[in-house]
Amino acid sequence: MTKSILTSQDLRTPVLRRSFRRSYPAAVRGEGVYVWDAEGKRYLDFSGSAAVNFIGHGVREIGNAMAAQARQLEFAHTSQFTTPVAEEFAQELLDFAGDNFRGGAVYFTCGGSESVETALKLARQYQVEIGQTKRHQILSRNQSYHGATLGALAVSGNKKRREVYLPMVREFEHIGMPYCYRCAFDCTDSCYNCGQQYAAELERAIEAADGEAAGFIFEPMSGATLGAVTPPPGYLQAVAEICRRHGVLLIADEVMTGMGRTGRNFAVEHWQVAPDILIAAKGISSGYAPLGAVIASKKVVDAIADGAGGGQECPPHTGSGAFLHGFTYNAHPISVAAGRAVLGRIRSLNLVHAADSDAERTAGSALKKALEGLRDLDAVGGVRGLGMLWGVEFVADKKTKTPFTPEKNFSGLVGQACRQRGLLVYPMQGSVDGIAGDHLLIAPPAVITAEQIGWAVEQLRAAVVEST
Ligand SMILES: Cc1ncc(COP(=O)(O)O)c(C=O)c1O
Repeated sequence: MTKSILTSQDLRTPVLRRSFRRSYPAAVRGEGVYVWDAEGKRYLDFSGSAAVNFIGHGVREIGNAMAAQARQLEFAHTSQFTTPVAEEFAQELLDFAGDNFRGGAVYFTCGGSESVETALKLARQYQVEIGQTKRHQILSRNQSYHGATLGALAVSGNKKRREVYLPMVREFEHIGMPYCYRCAFDCTDSCYNCGQQYAAELERAIEAADGEAAGFIFEPMSGATLGAVTPPPGYLQAVAEICRRHGVLLIADEVMTGMGRTGRNFAVEHWQVAPDILIAAKGISSGYAPLGAVIASKKVVDAIADGAGGGQECPPHTGSGAFLHGFTYNAHPISVAAGRAVLGRIRSLNLVHAADSDAERTAGSALKKALEGLRDLDAVGGVRGLGMLWGVEFVADKKTKTPFTPEKNFSGLVGQACRQRGLLVYPMQGSVDGIAGDHLLIAPPAVITAEQIGWAVEQLRAAVVEST
C-alpha cells in the first residue's frame, strides 16, 4: 500500500468503512497500551479498541504461537478433523469457566455474532433433543447488544443498530432492563425491589410464550448499549431461578465481560449465577485473531450427544447425535492457537486479579478511583462499572439528569477531542431511550499502569471540559 493511501484523509477509499462522514487514521503498530498511526502519532488505547484487547498490544509470544501453528498446519475442516490445539484450548476454557462447565464442551467461532447465532441454535436443538419441540423462542432484553447478524440482531435491543433491518428480522419478546441511574421505579433501596420487578417481567414473558420459550439471553453487565451498567442486587439470581423453574436455558453473553475483563474469569461469578451456555469473544483472543467460543454445560452437550431427538410423538426430531450447525472456519487452528496463548498470558501475568477493581493496588482499582474522580464535572452524570469495564454517562443537567440533544452528539465530540489528544475511548449514544443519552465506554488492557491511567483520565477530563 502506498504512503498516500495510508495517510489519506479521503472519505472514499477502496475499503467500505464504518462511516463516509469521517476519515480514519491508518493503524500500523501496537505495543502495550499504545497504538501508532501511519503518521507516527501515538494513542493510548483506553477502550481496548472496543473492549477487545485485555493483554496489551504487540505481545510477541502470541504472534509466535500463531506463526508456529500456521507453519505446522494452517487449517483443517471440522467435518474431517479435530486438532490438538482446539482440544487442548477447549479443556483449558472449560476449566477457566469453572465447575459449572465440568463435562461440557466448547464450540469455537470467529467472533461474538457467530457465537451468539451458535448459542441460539444450540438452545433450540437442545429443546428438540429433550422432547420440548415447541420451544423455539429466545427472550431477551431492551437496551442490549448481541451482535450484527440477523439472528443476533433479533435478540438485541439496541435501537439504532437494529431499526433499518427490522423488516428482515424474526423477533420474540424483549423485556425491560434495570438501569439504576435512570430507575423507572424511582426506588431508594439500590434497586433491589425493582430488580425483582424486572425479573418478574421475565416470568410473565415466559408464561406469555405459552410453552415456546427455549432460552433467555442476557449480558450480565450491559456492554456498549448502556455503558457498563451493573445489575441490581438479587436480579440475576432471580432471573436464573425463573429460567431454571420454567425449563428455559440461561444464555450469558459475555462477549464483552468475559475472559477476565470485570476482575472475574466471567462476570456471572460476581452474582453467583450458573448459566447453561456462556458466550465469549473479544478478550478470548485479545484481538490477535478472530475468535469466539460457545461454552456449553454438560446438560446441553449430553442432550445433543445422546441424540434422543424429541421422541416418537414430538416431531420434528433430529436424533442425530450431531449439532446441526457449522461454519467453514469454526475452530480455525491459527485463531485457536492465538486464544490459547492469550489465556496463557492472562494466567502468567495474573491479569484477572489485575483487573479486579475491588482488590488493592490493582489496575482495576486505580481505574475505578481515577474515573470516579470525574464526577465533579458538570457534564458527568454517572460513572459506573467493574474491573476494567467502565461507563461515563454525560448529561446536560446533572440535577434532572436531562441528556444532551442527540444532534449535539456530545459523546462523539468528547471522543474526537480525546483522539486529538492521543487517547482512544468508545463513544456511544442512546442510553436513555435508544436515541438520546451519551456515554463513553472505557475498557483498557489490564496491563495499564497507574501512571498511564492518570494521564488518560487527565486527557479525558480536558476533553469533556473542551466539549461542554
Ligand atoms: C455483548 C456482545 N455480544 C455480541 C457482540 C458481537 O460481537 P462481534 O462484534 O465480535 O460479532 C458484541 C460486540 O460488541 C457484544 O458486546
